[in-house]
Amino acid sequence: MKVLSVFGTRPEAIKMAPLVKKLSRDRDFETVLVVTAQHRQMLDQVLDLFSLKPDYDLDVMREQQTIGMITSKVLEGMGEVLDREKPDLVLVHGDTTTTFSSCLASFYRKIPVAHVEAGLRTYNMYSPFPEEMNRVLTDSMSSLYFCPTVLNRDNLLEENVPEEKIFITGNTVIDALLLVSQGKYTFTEEVLRDLNFKEERVILLTCHRRENLGKNMGNIFRAVKRIVSEYDDVKVVYPVHLNPKVREKADEILKGVNNVHLIEPLSYEPFVHLMKNSYLVLTDSGGIQEEAASLAKPVLVVRKETERPEAIEAGTVKLAGVHEDGIYEMVKTLLDNKEEYLRMGEAVNPYGDGKASERIIEAVKKWNK
Ligand code: UD1
Ligand code: UDP
Repeated sequence: MKVLSVFGTRPEAIKMAPLVKKLSRDRDFETVLVVTAQHRQMLDQVLDLFSLKPDYDLDVMREQQTIGMITSKVLEGMGEVLDREKPDLVLVHGDTTTTFSSCLASFYRKIPVAHVEAGLRTYNMYSPFPEEMNRVLTDSMSSLYFCPTVLNRDNLLEENVPEEKIFITGNTVIDALLLVSQGKYTFTEEVLRDLNFKEERVILLTCHRRENLGKNMGNIFRAVKRIVSEYDDVKVVYPVHLNPKVREKADEILKGVNNVHLIEPLSYEPFVHLMKNSYLVLTDSGGIQEEAASLAKPVLVVRKETERPEAIEAGTVKLAGVHEDGIYEMVKTLLDNKEEYLRMGEAVNPYGDGKASERIIEAVKKWNK
């Protein structure tokens, strides 16, 4: 059976790496790996870490690319690859434009698609944007669904996806996390080496979502600035996403602020160890909500809603919204109220046991029989 895997951004690469590696070692499969390179440097960091060597690299990324540009370049580029390789199955991941457009290119050729991390929903088509619609459209064109949780499966059942096409596998992010989070780690980055995690409280910040660009991001950064000005023992580390619009805002509000470190995007391994050592995480990222839940690390999500309510139910994640005062108050509570802080750190991990890739491979074999 010939299986073609495709991804293009940092989070897809992290979450597909364990699966792609396992697939390539399995003699039942002939495998092809395509990267669209919707991200360039942030994708290459992951390819290097996991020693992944793509068979095709569409190299689509351009400075300030639009969703339309990504969609059309991937549709065309993937079309050519699919016509040449004629795989039996295409594996896509998650909710990016690479995901949707690769799925569409496969659909046009009647090649079945398996969607890894299927069934997540906010039911608000503009939030996250365009990810919610990318998920809905990808799920409507897929033939096989790998759901991280029971809730994700139930969402698909409500949309009349036949039960026999759905497999609850856990999230492959936990497979990746377990591969890099074990054991002691020494940071090579000077800023991180200089942090004293015992005496200082480190808040790890990440922020990049399209719907937060502009006003919301300003609110988030101003809340952070207020916090560091009031707490001497708090340091903020922000590996700034390479999107120029994010960098501009971060520079405008946070550059040069005492106890705020704006650094380059970290490779996955140091990032995970930074997360483990931080006091709390402030983020609008999808994947980090899952990882932090697994590490039992309190997370405040700077968004209005999330397609990952499991971690909220489990207690590790709270929605902090996108208003300066609200975010400021919630961070302050976790800094001042030890009980509340410890309660959030007790939670259990709802996203799996690190064996999602194994389950996905078994399900693909079953489907192929
Ligand atoms: C993309 C995905 C989003 C995902 C996020 C993960 C879409 C529409 N967006 O958003 O779902 O959550 O990735 O991070 O699919 N850039 C670089 N180098 C890089 C990466 C990005 O320079 O390695 C810059 C480029 O100028 C690029 C811009 O960032 O044009 C935006 O990248 P893009 O992939 O369009 O959007 P993201 O916000 O990264
Ligand atoms: N991450 C990383 N380095 C960083 C920031 C994040 O390796 O500097 C990892 C993080 O652990 C998670 C993923 O990148 O696995 C999340 O990516 P991002 O927030 O860009 O995308 P999202 O998950 O929101 O789609």
